[in-house]
Amino acid sequence: MILNRPLPQQRYIWGRRQSRPLTDKQRQAMDTLWHQVGLTVLENPLPELSYLFSFLPQEIWLEVGFGGGEHLATQAVLHPTIGFIGCEPFVNGVASLLVHIQKHSLTNVRIVKDDVRLLLARLPAHSLSRVFILFPDPWPKNRHHKRRIIQEGTIKTLAHVLKNGGLLYMATDDPSYARWMQDLMKQHPLFVPLLEGRKNVYERPKDWPLTRYEQKGLFQGRTPVYLTYKT
Ligand SMILES: C[S@@+](CC[C@H](N)C(=O)[O-])C[C@H]1O[C@@H](n2cnc3c(N)ncnc32)[C@H](O)[C@@H]1O
Repeated sequence: MILNRPLPQQRYIWGRRQSRPLTDKQRQAMDTLWHQVGLTVLENPLPELSYLFSFLPQEIWLEVGFGGGEHLATQAVLHPTIGFIGCEPFVNGVASLLVHIQKHSLTNVRIVKDDVRLLLARLPAHSLSRVFILFPDPWPKNRHHKRRIIQEGTIKTLAHVLKNGGLLYMATDDPSYARWMQDLMKQHPLFVPLLEGRKNVYERPKDWPLTRYEQKGLFQGRTPVYLTYKT
């Protein structure tokens, strides 16, 4: 199904796109692997996602802002029949995920090195079974809240691209962002919050691979909130 709304062309990427130079290993992974796994955000919507893979994936899962790619790579190893799309504009993060892909010989990962909003607007309706948005940049100052990736528009688009019965996973260790996420999600009639056997949103889901940002926050004494919603 083609999305019948205007496709955004403008990127909104507020964080850095590259920090330190790539290591030799990362550079080598970029040179050899990027042309196989890298996807470019196109002018037109993508008609079908399974064609992006060399096998017929059972489901497609998306991770938004995968950072160093630790969570995505672990999920891709655990679920070889799933097709994964990772979206991350930070070049060092992309290179780091490529090293994981190389190490584990993963064939079920594709990467978009861009603003996820451009990608989301081009995805077919009901094409994703799971979306992970783990520890997105919190932008705690009031005047920067508009930079947060979770906005009313993002949630509407997620509702459009997730399958019926799809799952949206979000986590943050910024209390004001946690409230922001929960308040916005409450306003969308399609999403139902789930605890999946946990006592509350502070209890860490047992099967979530740790992310790098999460680990850093836990070490510094911050308390993450783990949110799951079903469509
Ligand atoms: C705080 S980091 C968390 C990284 C990772 N999820 C983790 O938990 O370790 C947020 C990530 O979101 C990425 N990001 C920022 N803006 C983005 C956008 N518009 N689209 C996709 N990813 C974005 C950043 O580059 C960064 O890697």
